[in-house]
Amino acid sequence: MNSPFPYDRLPISSEFFGRVAELEKLTTIAQNSNNLLIHSKRRMGKSSLIKTFFEKNSDIYLCIYVDIFDIVSKEDFAKQLLKALSNAGKFDLKTAIKNLTSLFKRVRVEPTIDQNTLEYSIKPIVATLTFEEMMEDFFHSLKELSKTNKILLAIDEFQQIANITDVKLDAMMRKHIQERENISYLFLGSKRHLLTSLFEYKAPLYELATHYELKPLELEAIFEYAKKYLDISLPMCEYLYQKSDGETKMIQQILHLLYIQKEQTVSKEQIDIVTKEILNSKDSSYKLLFDTLGNNQKTALKIVGKYKSGVFASAILTEYNIKKQTLQSSIDTLLKKELIDKEDERYFIPDRTFELWVEGL
Ligand SMILES: Nc1ncnc2c1ncn2[C@@H]1O[C@H](COP(=O)(O)OP(=O)(O)OP(=O)(O)O)[C@@H](O)[C@H]1O
Ligand SMILES: [Mg+2]
Repeated sequence: MNSPFPYDRLPISSEFFGRVAELEKLTTIAQNSNNLLIHSKRRMGKSSLIKTFFEKNSDIYLCIYVDIFDIVSKEDFAKQLLKALSNAGKFDLKTAIKNLTSLFKRVRVEPTIDQNTLEYSIKPIVATLTFEEMMEDFFHSLKELSKTNKILLAIDEFQQIANITDVKLDAMMRKHIQERENISYLFLGSKRHLLTSLFEYKAPLYELATHYELKPLELEAIFEYAKKYLDISLPMCEYLYQKSDGETKMIQQILHLLYIQKEQTVSKEQIDIVTKEILNSKDSSYKLLFDTLGNNQKTALKIVGKYKSGVFASAILTEYNIKKQTLQSSIDTLLKKELIDKEDERYFIPDRTFELWVEGL
């Protein structure tokens, strides 16, 4: 049997737990064809939540999921949208191709084998088309489909559109979002500053989506699920929750390691051992990353790792022999590199495993 605690892949529905309120929220949004912007720290479970919601609701809605993490051009964006649309819905391949052929004006489609899953999927042929033509075909098709279907369109890692600068993708999206009927747009992402800046006052997408921050899973929900597979007490769950600072991925990785060890009752010592194991497995890649930083940035990272808030206190500046201005500019660089983040005057390292590693320096 596979481990019931996925940490490096998305959970299948039987492995998904908690998130009752979030699923309800999504239901309301979908029923009313409203739009939602879901943001959170990294690895909290945004993608898992949306995938699970789509699985549960695929009979009611046409669910389109597109991940734009790796787009580097506007054409990539359009292609990803077309690909996601082509593979949405529960149709057999032949029916899907027939439907799409009558739906698209210019785009042609053909079956292909997905290199990752070795499953058949549908590939839009767009080589001769311009960006504008692809976008027009996509939104035209979406509109046609929305006449007979309620549609959910999730765009994951949405902040990536901010990196495309030769067209104003947000302004383009605004036009279509405003005109829509029967379509919910669900925007997901984790680079908080970039993402919320797309929706801030005066930006094209301002007020076009309700903002929703995905918080850590509830401790109770983790405990209820974990105790089915492990001999674990609530206080031990709480202990590993604190270690992970609520980061779902790390919680799952610790639970996974405890599970495969099949030891008796879970103890603090054991949690410490598996946490160390996780840090050790990352040690060489973190060292490489750390070595790309200049000396002042290294110092700034150590300070943030250790102190989190009040980092400019003179005792700290003296301890690390660094000037306030130098620390400030190094911290700014780390923020830009997204190695650290800031919330309510408190700095933190968004990758919890890396944060623990830095704390140990
Ligand atoms: N509700 C859940 N039940 C079980 N596992 C979960 C749940 N939410 C998240 N996970 C697990 O935690 C890990 C991180 O989740 P996910 O990738 O969905 O987070 P994310 O917020 O989309 O992260 P990123 O910011 O990196 O895109 C995944 O491996 C997933 O299996
Ligand atoms: Mg994700």
